[in-house]
Amino acid sequence: MVRIITFASGKGGVGKTTIAANLGIALKQMNEKVLLIDADVTMANLSLILGMESSPITINDVLRGEANIEDVIYKGPGGVEVIPASLSLQNFQALDLTKIPQMVKKLSYNYDFIILDCAAGVGEDTLSAMAAATEVFIVINPYSLSIADALKTKIMAQKINAKPVGIIVNMVGYYKGEIKEGDIVKMMELPSYGVIPFDEVVRENFYYKQIVPIIIKTPGTPASVAIKNIASRMLGKEPTEEIKKSGFFAWLKRLFSKN
Ligand SMILES: Nc1ncnc2c1ncn2[C@@H]1O[C@H](COP(=O)(O)OP(=O)(O)OP(=O)(O)O)[C@@H](O)[C@H]1O
Ligand SMILES: [Mg+2]
Repeated sequence: MVRIITFASGKGGVGKTTIAANLGIALKQMNEKVLLIDADVTMANLSLILGMESSPITINDVLRGEANIEDVIYKGPGGVEVIPASLSLQNFQALDLTKIPQMVKKLSYNYDFIILDCAAGVGEDTLSAMAAATEVFIVINPYSLSIADALKTKIMAQKINAKPVGIIVNMVGYYKGEIKEGDIVKMMELPSYGVIPFDEVVRENFYYKQIVPIIIKTPGTPASVAIKNIASRMLGKEPTEEIKKSGFFAWLKRLFSKN
């Protein structure tokens, strides 16, 4: 049975696209068949994070009724399949966002996981992406404003009968006086699927002309290791020995670079 996962947040810039892209590849590395969809149709970032060249036709053309969904599926890095959104400013008009759930359902027979990256806030595009999901994960940074917006997103998800199932706490170790994972879990009343540390490598990745997702380029960096742990947890598995070992080395490296 396919699992359709939407990463939502409320607050912008918390790491939804980074997590959707890299977690999708991590699941593929664990032998799952994965389709990634950019449902952030106005501020499309997924194909950029995946290092994919711009695509001639996109989800925008499908939502405008000018292309078939099967025609906008591209091969992405690490063996995932990808439906990108348009990077062009001219491509926002006349999009029927209500088509997203029906479009995703049409593809559900071909995949183990369909992962949707969606926009910040609770606009029509985000609501449509949440409505399409069998599981909504809320990405949160460990500070009050991010949590407040995440709560609003959870409430909106429930209002439209979408299913918020868990949280992911990202960029841990970056904010002063940050709120602990356990306290965020209590406030959100949702289980945590894991924390991802703030990791410079995630940002440094954009300094290069050709972007390769961190999970492929730097599998041992702390953020990659944390994402692999979350992927294991989503599959109901304990992290493998290899993941545990790379996590230990990442921790050691961080310890020495601090001193
Ligand atoms: N764990 C992390 N450590 C360091 N930087 C991170 C981490 N996760 C994400 N980032 C960086 O934070 C920025 C925002 O990430 P991203 O684009 O994934 O967020 P988003 O929630 O999708 O944003 P938006 O709401 O604009 O769509 C990017 O520059 C990304 O490289
Ligand atoms: Mg994004």
